Amino acid sequence: MICESDHARVKEECELAEPEPFVLEVLPRLPKGLVLDVACGTGRHSVLLASVGNRVVAVDNSLAVLAVLHDVAKKLQLPIYPVAADLGRFPLPVDTFDVIVNVNFLCRPLVAELKRALKPGGMLVFDTFLIDQAEIGRPRNPAFLLRHWELREMLADLELLEYREGLASRHDGRRSWRASALAIKPKPRHD
Ligand SMILES: C[S@@+](CC[C@H](N)C(=O)[O-])C[C@H]1O[C@@H](n2cnc3c(N)ncnc32)[C@H](O)[C@@H]1O
Repeated sequence: MICESDHARVKEECELAEPEPFVLEVLPRLPKGLVLDVACGTGRHSVLLASVGNRVVAVDNSLAVLAVLHDVAKKLQLPIYPVAADLGRFPLPVDTFDVIVNVNFLCRPLVAELKRALKPGGMLVFDTFLIDQAEIGRPRNPAFLLRHWELREMLADLELLEYREGLASRHDGRRSWRASALAIKPKPRHD
């Protein structure tokens, strides 16, 4: 495990992109354990989450990005397990993950599966583009853009700890229209 203060150095050494501000904001509230990074890309969030003591299963359908992540994880000796799979057809284990992170990716049929894959008490971090984004940049395809309040409806059976929609700024000053949620899967009640 590397300490949090090392994360900036690690990022620079490995030329990793900066995590999304929403992920950094909620990081202190997340439980520790087994994390699923959905459509992980080169793994900026996988590295962040592994560097603070989690084991991370990082799934993407691009072998090219997974190869980069594999090398970074090896270099940093972080417990990140890259998995090549099409998330549209990849059965996820039920009640398994302490945290699931879904950033800059939208596969609507997958959301129900992600909720099933969370452990009771586990948390979902969902942060991706809103429909308004098409006016200022990419993506433009409505298939990859959330309608207003759509994310809140999709997560209605979880407990929402944080929810926002709007124009958000990144560390480099670039802005994008986003919907962002932190939600917890309720534990079963034994009345
Ligand atoms: C915009 S990138 C986001 C990467 C990462 N979540 C992040 O925030 O840096 C979207 C990623 O989704 C992956 N992807 C697209 N369709 C996929 C699918 N059906 N199954 C798995 N990964 C997919 C792409 O290969 C790409 O790495």
